[in-house]
Amino acid sequence: MDHAAAPALRCEGVTKEFGGGVTALAGLDLEVPRGAFFGLLGPNGAGKTTLIRSIVGLTEPTGGTISVFGVPAWGPRAAEARRTIGYAPQDVALDRFVPVRELLTLHGRYFGMSRADARTRADEMLRAFDLSAKSTSYAHLLSGGMRRRLLLARALLHRPRLVILDEPTAGVDLELRHDLWAYIRSLHADGTSILLTTHYIEEAEALCERVAFIRSGRIVADGAPGDLRERYAAPRLEDVYLQVVGR
Ligand SMILES: Nc1ncnc2c1ncn2[C@@H]1O[C@H](COP(=O)(O)OP(=O)(O)OP(=O)(O)O)[C@@H](O)[C@H]1O
Ligand SMILES: [Mg+2]
Repeated sequence: MDHAAAPALRCEGVTKEFGGGVTALAGLDLEVPRGAFFGLLGPNGAGKTTLIRSIVGLTEPTGGTISVFGVPAWGPRAAEARRTIGYAPQDVALDRFVPVRELLTLHGRYFGMSRADARTRADEMLRAFDLSAKSTSYAHLLSGGMRRRLLLARALLHRPRLVILDEPTAGVDLELRHDLWAYIRSLHADGTSILLTTHYIEEAEALCERVAFIRSGRIVADGAPGDLRERYAAPRLEDVYLQVVGR
């Protein structure tokens, strides 16, 4: 059951303590409105990936609550929450033994699509990400940029309503970056909610309607890029970044 008024994502007081006294998330509050194009920005080790992994069910928070379209991401409805999310991880981890097209089809099946729908959609995504020529190849035989495209294709395969991309454009060449952004923009135009992390602050400034800055496991500022520039009397979002999360 969906809660019509619930935001795409709501995180309240989320904490994550790893062993050895590492506090990756320190009572983090974050809300991504439905249909938003949202950027999560912050330095290495700030907690971005830990937060995202907590949202998609890979890292269990030690405290707080997370819900996706009103459905708790942890507990009995976790699978329901997960199905609404498309997730492209920061680190490329793709099966070595399954050919590319099959890998996408299996993902669709895993997310509850019929075999026929999963196959059709896999071919559609292969075309969209210019990977059709590699459909019978294996992920580890693709170039780095192609693997990243495959991750995106997989994340989007089951038509998720919330797309979470952890540094989707890291290590991606200029043209492909433009292509990926164009694709993400078109998803956003269709009403999909987008949450992404990037270290390309200028890109976030140009693309995201809202951004949040994270430092030491907490959100320290958030808002529309223009409002943040005004609030911090900064000419560019990069200057806001340096003020609020810089060393
Ligand atoms: N599995 C783990 N065990 C112990 N500590 C971890 C683990 N995963 C992450 N951490 C620690 O949690 C903190 C936050 O890491 P995280 O990967 O969330 O940062 P990030 O903001 O994604 O950084 P980056 O920009 O480099 O990707 C770091 O101190 C990291 O070392
Ligand atoms: Mg990370």
